[in-house]
Amino acid sequence: MRLNGRTALVTGAAGGIGAAISRHLARAGAQVALADLDGDAARKLAGELADTTGSRVAGYAMDVSVSGVVADVVGAIETDLGGVDILVNNAGIDRIERFVESTEPTWQKIVAVNYLGTVIVTRAILDGMIERRFGRIINIGSDAGRVGSSGEVVYSGTKGAVIAFAKALARETATKGITVNTVCPGPTDTALLEQVAQAGQGRFDALSKAVPMKRIGTPDDVAPAVTFFASDEAAYITGQTLSVSGGLTMS
Ligand code: NAI
Repeated sequence: MRLNGRTALVTGAAGGIGAAISRHLARAGAQVALADLDGDAARKLAGELADTTGSRVAGYAMDVSVSGVVADVVGAIETDLGGVDILVNNAGIDRIERFVESTEPTWQKIVAVNYLGTVIVTRAILDGMIERRFGRIINIGSDAGRVGSSGEVVYSGTKGAVIAFAKALARETATKGITVNTVCPGPTDTALLEQVAQAGQGRFDALSKAVPMKRIGTPDDVAPAVTFFASDEAAYITGQTLSVSGGLTMS
């Protein structure tokens, strides 16, 4: 699958899954904008990907939960790389703790980044996609949003929201050349999952045992599903939710 001539924006691009998605999209020939809270890490990775893939790749500091910053960065991407054809809403945060022990500032933060961040960035790129009558929006959800996950109650809620948001937007944009789909990783080996290991080795071991394939996923397991949804070949697929989780969730 080739993405030549397309411009992609990946949020949370400096992290484990976002970096792999960015690498796969650049390898497929897309020009890729890497946006992350950590702008230095995004710019450093962009330089590496430009060297290794030969595609145009640029890094930007962007907090997905601040609409003014998002508008400025989307404007800069349009100037540097062209209008965004492919948006990957990947930025996300989690905090492993029982719901009864969690507090409102934590809920507010998780909702602001995982759900509102997805809404804000999507809104910022949508007019251009409608104008050009082409768009691929891929949200990174989570199996936690499909079946729930203890210790991640508010996080699971935001991921369920991201899935429903994709379905509803897919209906509104279906005649405009725009598809909206969600990829749901299961437990995947990144900094985010480190928290689970820190919460207790028993919980971490139980996670991999629960996966029918008996292993934790890698960012490179997740990225090809995103490349597929971004491709021309996936033009007739919208509003779908695909788990990439070794069989953990089947529905
Ligand atoms: P990670 O923690 O390795 O990377 C997340 C990246 O997002 C970091 O580079 C961070 O700087 C960036 N970020 C955080 N807040 C941001 C904000 N407000 N604006 C812009 N960037 C921000 O996490 P990972 O594992 O790569 O997660 C990526 C996505 O995959 C998240 O949406 C996560 O919920 C989802 N996911 C991860 C799973 C896992 O087991 N690792 C399982 C299921 C879903």
